[in-house]
Amino acid sequence: MIEIDNVSKWYGDFNVLKHCTTSVTKGEVVVVCGPSGSGKSTLIKTVNGLEEFQEGDIRVDGTALKDKSTNLPKLRSRVGMVFQHFELFPHLKITENLCLGQMKVLGRDRETAMKKATALLERVGLEAHAHKFPGQLSGGQQQRVAIARALCMDPIVMLFDEPTSALDPEMVNEVLDVMVELAREGMTMMVVTHEMGFARKVANRVIFMDRGEIVEDATKDDFFGKPRSERAQQFLSKILTH
Ligand SMILES: Nc1ncnc2c1ncn2[C@@H]1O[C@H](COP(=O)(O)OP(=O)(O)OP(=O)(O)O)[C@@H](O)[C@H]1O
Ligand SMILES: [Mg+2]
Repeated sequence: MIEIDNVSKWYGDFNVLKHCTTSVTKGEVVVVCGPSGSGKSTLIKTVNGLEEFQEGDIRVDGTALKDKSTNLPKLRSRVGMVFQHFELFPHLKITENLCLGQMKVLGRDRETAMKKATALLERVGLEAHAHKFPGQLSGGQQQRVAIARALCMDPIVMLFDEPTSALDPEMVNEVLDVMVELAREGMTMMVVTHEMGFARKVANRVIFMDRGEIVEDATKDDFFGKPRSERAQQFLSKILTH
């Protein structure tokens, strides 16, 4: 579903991604972790064309991002993205947040969009909040809305960039529960997170990045059992002792 092939990227002369190669097959859940500044967000943003890259290639569902004939907005509309800070439109009610992309990008009529929005709000347990504004919801609730909004677009893959790291601890689980359910239903997911409980529960593979490189790309059992690199071992021992 996602093929990242020898991708390198520079910000000016800073080499932020170095020869990154990996792939995510349909239905697979891949967790990306690593120290701050290692390039995790940059890597995940290149996948839906939010960040350009100078070398290598990325294909999503067989479509090459670099190909000039690729309709990037169309491809992007099929790749759900959930960020650390929710990125909901504050001036729009929850239902409007969920309908906007469906109507503007997918051309759905209001009734169809609303039906979908209602179904997905129910799924994340927030149907009672449909007519509120984002600011009237807790962080955990807003993040569940953000997930529902992404799902409204019928994505073929979901990308998450530290979806729980801005949340108060008591709200982390309600968001992770939604993500675990999604994974178990077979959604293809690439998730930047340091929630190792989540990784243990549903990840098929774990990618460990350091200084722009994919240092480790292992099955969950191998990663937690015996990370090969010293850098991954150090990282794991640090986050697991917290
Ligand atoms: N627009 C930019 N211009 C220049 N440098 C940038 C830009 N965005 C990110 N960087 C740098 O690229 C490196 C990788 O950033 P990135 O955000 O991908 O790291 P990360 O692994 O997601 O870190 P964190 O865990 O803190 O979110 C960092 O050193 C960062 O300072
Ligand atoms: Mg980041």
